[in-house]
Amino acid sequence: MSKLIISGASGIPLLIFNNDSYNTWREQQAPRVINWLDNTKYSGTGASLIPNAKGELEQVIFVSKTDDSYWLCGDLVNQLPAGQYELHAPDAQIHAAAFSWGLGAYKFDRYKQNTKQLPVLIVPTQAQADEANKFIRAVSLVRDLVNTPAADMMPQHLGDTMTEMANEFGAEIKQIVGDELLEQNYPTIHMVGRASDNQPRLIDLTWGDESAPKLTLVGKGVCFDSGGLDLKPGSGMRLMKKDMGGAAHVIGLAQLIMAHNLPVRLRVLVPAVENAVSANAFRPGDIITTRKGITVEIDNTDAEGRLVLCDALAEANNDKPELMIDFATLTGAMRIALGTELPGFFSNDEAVAAGFTASGLKVDDPVWRMPLHKPYLDLTGSDIADLANCAKTPFGGAITAALYLEEFVDKDISWSHFDVMAYNVRKLPGRPVGGEAFGIRAVFDYLQNRFQA
Ligand code: BES
Ligand code: ZN
Ligand code: ZN
Repeated sequence: MSKLIISGASGIPLLIFNNDSYNTWREQQAPRVINWLDNTKYSGTGASLIPNAKGELEQVIFVSKTDDSYWLCGDLVNQLPAGQYELHAPDAQIHAAAFSWGLGAYKFDRYKQNTKQLPVLIVPTQAQADEANKFIRAVSLVRDLVNTPAADMMPQHLGDTMTEMANEFGAEIKQIVGDELLEQNYPTIHMVGRASDNQPRLIDLTWGDESAPKLTLVGKGVCFDSGGLDLKPGSGMRLMKKDMGGAAHVIGLAQLIMAHNLPVRLRVLVPAVENAVSANAFRPGDIITTRKGITVEIDNTDAEGRLVLCDALAEANNDKPELMIDFATLTGAMRIALGTELPGFFSNDEAVAAGFTASGLKVDDPVWRMPLHKPYLDLTGSDIADLANCAKTPFGGAITAALYLEEFVDKDISWSHFDVMAYNVRKLPGRPVGGEAFGIRAVFDYLQNRFQA
């Protein structure tokens, strides 16, 4: 997508108001403008496209209902004719206006041409344009990766995406593919992915100054989740191209971190597999000795996310990161608990959890903390292995999944786990139906406060 946010040009003025500033402005307008607003029955919220005496578009006003929405211009960009618009808004709203403009214009156009000319927004400074474009690019990348059908977004494609990103930012990348996973002791990633024609892999990216604080991101990269031998019904499988959404989230977050040159030593681990069905698929009842040495009985092959994550988390401990964060489309239960639009997260670190919540509110990317309620760990126990990959009851399913993951994280590591939908099931301003990033702006704001202050 070409850049829709620029600076250093002129265009049709676009004035952003709240109720008060709109009323003040209105009092100062010529009768021609007042008549236009009254005769078009302008309600006092949303957009009005105001013509000059020749009938040409002279200016656009937009009155927002709330001052703090980051999705301010998410609809407006689709309402205005192509052209250049010069943003006039309070400083505090410039970023939100530009961000929502760019993401409101997002279309997944890989398989269907989009010929619509889009309006361009001119912001006051180049720095503001650059900053907005970084966020637009990262969120658009997450959306593109999730929206791409599984046939074109298999483990090797996730590997290619991360390799391109590594090349752009001067990061190092390593991939452990297929049987190499067994040789290098990633048995669980191999087990989940072995039934697919597209070989499983662990993608491992590192970037930044070696002496900087270590931050490790881990993302669930299940490129398609059929459920395995515990096959999902058609309705449950329909959206499962999005099951690499956790990987997409950490890739988008990593891009934000590198584009801002955050002073961290970043590592991104993506276990990428297809949970497919074939004669060599893993089975309910199988027991696997995981990378960490913990034995796990497979109760349900559809609880595969925690299996690929557990080997990656075990590895992530090794270089003792200051902060470990994973993202995963892990459980339907989290969606039952919080709905599709509010990501739940778990953390063993009180300060980090409070920081994520505060940042989420600040940047209008809300996240909701859930409890790592230890007594429920028993529910994911097995009589003949150390753990089962699935709890005996569906109640508290997001919590039991998180408790399972926690078993693979060393006790002295600050670890947080986000269980996300990665998909908009309904259209909202700036957010078309399809792949979506949830919580990465909240986490990025926290990281900026912590490491860039
Ligand atoms: N990828 C799904 C979880 C999912 C489903 C997330 C729908 C978002 C929307 C995951 O691999 C899965 O199938 N989980 C099972 C776990 C169960 C078998 C314990 C689930 O949530 O039903
Ligand atoms: Zn599953
Ligand atoms: Zn899954």
